[in-house]
Amino acid sequence: MAIQINETYRVFKLDTKHSSYVLGVNGDGYAGHMYYGDRLTFDGGEMSDTGNMLSLLGADQKNSIPADSQREKVNLHDTFLWEYGMPGYGDFREPCLEVDAGSGEEALEFLYKGYEVVKGKPALEGLPSTFSDDCETLVLHLSESDLKLELKLYYSVFEEEDAITRTVVVENHGGISCHLERVMSLCLDLRDGGLDLITLHGAWGRERNVYRREVGEGKQSIGSIRGVSSHQENPFMALLEPDATEDTGRVYGINFVYSGNFLAQVEKNQFGHVRAVMGIHPYHFSWKLGAGESFTAPEAVLVYSSQGIGGMTRNFHDLYRGHLIRGMYRDRKRPILINNWEATYFDFNTEKLWSIAEEAAGLGIEMLVMDDGWFGKRNDDNSSLGDWFANEEKLPGGVKRLADGVRERGLKFGIWVEPEMVNPDSDLYREHPDWILQYRDREVSRSRNQYVLDIGRKEVRDEIYRRISRVIKEAGIEYVKWDMNRSLTNVASHTAPSDEQGMVYHRYVLGVYEMQERLVTDFPELLFENCSSGGGRFDAGMLYYSPQIWCSDDTDAIERLSIQRGTAMVYPLSTMGAHVSDCPNHATHRTTPFDTRGQVALCGTFGYELDVTKLTAEEKEKIKEQTDMYHKYNDLIRSGDYYRIVVPSEKTPYDCYMVVAKDQSEALLSFVRVMHRINSWGVRIWPKGLDTAAEYRLSDRDGIYSGNMLMNVGIEINGAQKDFEGKLIHFYKERK
Ligand code: DGJ
Repeated sequence: MAIQINETYRVFKLDTKHSSYVLGVNGDGYAGHMYYGDRLTFDGGEMSDTGNMLSLLGADQKNSIPADSQREKVNLHDTFLWEYGMPGYGDFREPCLEVDAGSGEEALEFLYKGYEVVKGKPALEGLPSTFSDDCETLVLHLSESDLKLELKLYYSVFEEEDAITRTVVVENHGGISCHLERVMSLCLDLRDGGLDLITLHGAWGRERNVYRREVGEGKQSIGSIRGVSSHQENPFMALLEPDATEDTGRVYGINFVYSGNFLAQVEKNQFGHVRAVMGIHPYHFSWKLGAGESFTAPEAVLVYSSQGIGGMTRNFHDLYRGHLIRGMYRDRKRPILINNWEATYFDFNTEKLWSIAEEAAGLGIEMLVMDDGWFGKRNDDNSSLGDWFANEEKLPGGVKRLADGVRERGLKFGIWVEPEMVNPDSDLYREHPDWILQYRDREVSRSRNQYVLDIGRKEVRDEIYRRISRVIKEAGIEYVKWDMNRSLTNVASHTAPSDEQGMVYHRYVLGVYEMQERLVTDFPELLFENCSSGGGRFDAGMLYYSPQIWCSDDTDAIERLSIQRGTAMVYPLSTMGAHVSDCPNHATHRTTPFDTRGQVALCGTFGYELDVTKLTAEEKEKIKEQTDMYHKYNDLIRSGDYYRIVVPSEKTPYDCYMVVAKDQSEALLSFVRVMHRINSWGVRIWPKGLDTAAEYRLSDRDGIYSGNMLMNVGIEINGAQKDFEGKLIHFYKERK
């Protein structure tokens, strides 16, 4: 049983395979945090050791305030470890909820009312979330008697993945509406404050660099108020023991299943306790909750591992591959695609795309994707977003004629769209200038010469969806890349009254989710890829709709090593859009070997982004080898366990990781020499994750080696001596 309850002590114990999370209700009716870490072995239904456990905790955590003495209530609130911190009575840490009920008062006191345990995991209406019929969900009911608000705290327990997902529902049972000024999805109060923090930072073209530092006194936060989860800061943080490594130590990973503004914050208080919160960013958030209405906060995911950062990563990967990503392509090899963006940019027509398709078909490529520039009068990035009709000058006979011709040449066909945007120079904008996000009477700031559509409005998304889905239907489109190329600014809606303007950011995200849900429901066989100027919206929310996301506009193989490594901290390799592109690379001007470019892309979704009609015979042969390799290794890469082996540094200027099959029957090691150093000894690598008792062959040398020997003695890397050269080594089991 994943959830055990001791009714006498009002203690709730949530068990996964390797972790326990314990919470309880004190004598005052406060829901408090008791423990999160390695699995506690007291089981057996009644949890007879619960009393013992309580006696280990500090008096403030288990006792109520003596009825005859309310003099230290503030102290109790200040020191209590809360399941959901509230303002106004003495908890001075970051609050989880703020309500404007019109009275001007701030204080909230939610008291325990009861609980329920639900089999499976309730879906969150209109929001992406993990799913399972097998897990168990604890719902804790709390109530605020003065404001007549009810709070439900949800905990779903995924035993195999060592994950607990959290969300919060606020219900208004009062007779009047109020405004929720902030609703965090997760609060984690930890007693032991000696922790490090890992977050992912970046920029356009330099997404998701791993940044580790000590959790210091005071607050450290990351977040986004760009309307998207952003290139700059990903909605993820890990708290870990200071001496935790890639393979050892306790790590708590926290990730937000949401694609808009977020706040992720840790705070170390005067007692050394640490509070972590994650939720929608309170900036310009003010959700009007009418009488009888409820608000569901997006889901936050917690994973635990005592096997270091690598263990945390593998738990995230398993959870997302099994319980977040949906659709036909989730567990399938995706068609190898060629995208024309870096091949032609806006300068293409039907004939050009057919010539690429023709050449690609003979090389093992399976799908052609027509990127930006096929609609309206679009010949550069200044016009036509919103006019989702074929540009007949480029594509005579329309998208269908082009698509049919591509299919005749043996390839599937996909298109690029950017549904959330409109250019001022477009028929759509001329017809509906009030469809954009805009403050009344204020100039709207443009970015890439485009405005953001008010996707929170039904009539706007209905019309955009109608236009795009018509093209998909008519031309039998098999793949869609949904792009989004600017941050949100001037966030206000022409149709919302002033007391609803604080809902516009979140409504926008809900609108995007609604459109994407329609798309995957109406076209269940579509391969769907999200994108946002590269990886500006690479988050778990998007993965609920599309099994893959374009990782970065930087397609340089060497830059991609760190971008993909940072992305894989949380998100599975099967989700990372990765292509072989031209050299010198258009972004970095670096020239890397064709083999290395293939090797790096192979560990993502794999595809091409260059003009195959201009390649040499030798390069074309290499494509054939690479597409064969994709078919050989993709099942393993998509479904295996990912191990970081070496992160490039001054002393180790090379990158190495492995993917090991779940049954340990085979593994693939990727090594790339980022920089050659003169007079350095050979490189030895210590593989991970192999079956110690099994014997393996290696694709680049003779002999049979036990997993035990390989992982302890290590292997010398032969070859890959020069800058940017790489090498793949396949390990496969000889016999048990
Ligand atoms: C940004 C994307 O990341 C690119 O791959 C490409 O689709 C361009 N937009 C097209 O405008």
